[in-house]
Amino acid sequence: MDIYFLILGIFIYLNGVDSKSKARKFPQNFWFGASSAAFQIEGGWQEDGKAPSIWDVVVHSEQSPVKDHSTADVAADSYHLYKKDVQIAKELGLSFYRFSMSWPRILPNGFADRINQIAIQYYDNLLDELIAHNITPIVTIYHWDLPSNLQKLGGWTNPLIINWFLDYAKILFDKFGTKVKQWITINDPKEICHGGYGSTSKAPMINMPGTAEYMCAKNILLAHAIVYHAYDEQFRRVQNGMIGISISFRWFEPSSSSEDDHQAAIDAKMFDWGIYTNPIFGIGGDFPLEVKRNVRSKSAEQNYPWSRLPELSTVEVGTIRRSADFLGVNSFTTKLVYRDASVDGMYPVPSYMDDMGVVLVKDPSWTQSIANWSPVPWGFFKLLVELKNTYDNPPIIVTENGWPTRGGLLDEDRISYLRRYLNALLDAVDEGCDIRGYSVWSLIDNFEWFKGYTEMYGLYEVDFTSPEKTRTPRKSALMYKEVIKTNILDPDYEPEKFLVEAP
Ligand code: BGC
Repeated sequence: MDIYFLILGIFIYLNGVDSKSKARKFPQNFWFGASSAAFQIEGGWQEDGKAPSIWDVVVHSEQSPVKDHSTADVAADSYHLYKKDVQIAKELGLSFYRFSMSWPRILPNGFADRINQIAIQYYDNLLDELIAHNITPIVTIYHWDLPSNLQKLGGWTNPLIINWFLDYAKILFDKFGTKVKQWITINDPKEICHGGYGSTSKAPMINMPGTAEYMCAKNILLAHAIVYHAYDEQFRRVQNGMIGISISFRWFEPSSSSEDDHQAAIDAKMFDWGIYTNPIFGIGGDFPLEVKRNVRSKSAEQNYPWSRLPELSTVEVGTIRRSADFLGVNSFTTKLVYRDASVDGMYPVPSYMDDMGVVLVKDPSWTQSIANWSPVPWGFFKLLVELKNTYDNPPIIVTENGWPTRGGLLDEDRISYLRRYLNALLDAVDEGCDIRGYSVWSLIDNFEWFKGYTEMYGLYEVDFTSPEKTRTPRKSALMYKEVIKTNILDPDYEPEKFLVEAP
């Protein structure tokens, strides 16, 4: 009997399994974090010399596309309350806090001619506060809030933005590089290019499908790569940091075993994210073959004398290839994909969706978030394994994953989502994926772009009606805190406070 318990004890110890069976251990030194973005939390939209971003312009326009007609003028007021955010990060036990810096706060003209010293001081204070509390800052250089001045000049469709972005990034390396060791150049290129230039779903709502988004994609890739090389050549030796990019990923599952649906899923992946990951992480670099082929042949059919997808020259391919020390993965959901005759005429011509030429659906049996997407943890697992296999197992930080609610502290659905996705992440680690860290979207409730304050992603609730913008931990915050404290995902853990308070 004693021998039996000894063996059981050794088994439990080696497997990191606790007595409640399904609890699983994270790798040693795994990083846990939470994310935010300047425009969504800071407020202070006209304070201390900050100029408007393209988002300020859109949310203040007469025909505001924001669901509840709100703005981010004050948001969670993190411009003034940043110490509270750091306090929360500390309470949670985060190893890192991922936030973004605001380009129009630091460079009100967009150009590097005038640096706003008050903005530099603000971010310096935030960094000092984090470091004093032993929380590693991960800084996103650009999370969608382009200085509106630059949009007047075409924004991300003007190739000169590569230099403007470089100037801005170099200022950040210069001012903050001794304190910041993890940089993310750009967040979610697809949302910027397809959302902002190829459609109206994001600022600046340019809505030139099939052309503007591809021009944007090329400039984003070059801007990212040139900043990477500048860091490499001018700052890395002294500052010794890492620099990557965060890309939004969905998994695409063929809806049948047919050859057509299989190809449709490949095309969907390559248009959705391969267009950004292949040039940076792919062995040969460059845009994916599927994207080049589809856009070239559709452009020819549509009488364009050239492909609507601008080419990357051999030199450009070389500049972009391998220009990242890690891959930031933002992922929330999965889609089913098929291709049949119904796709003809389904999308505007020309358009990115028409070029992709697939139908995206959800399995009717899947549950849905209030944002109309479905939690599909096995899709997240497949995605991570495919990234490992396709891109030679790059170091990955999951920089965003989370669940929206309408509010309230008892967020069982968020807990279930986070647990299921963390479980899938651990499955991917078991498959050998080099996943270094994971970050919840989001630390606190914030301005959810065109959804305003109708979708809440925070581990902490923010009372937007109170002058203090009071922050209160949700049940999910206590669950996440326990994961971080123990380095274990325990599906049975119940925070004590909520055991008492739950009805
Ligand atoms: C974006 C966030 C956004 C979140 C939820 C992410 O991909 O980076 O800014 O709030 O999705 O929609």
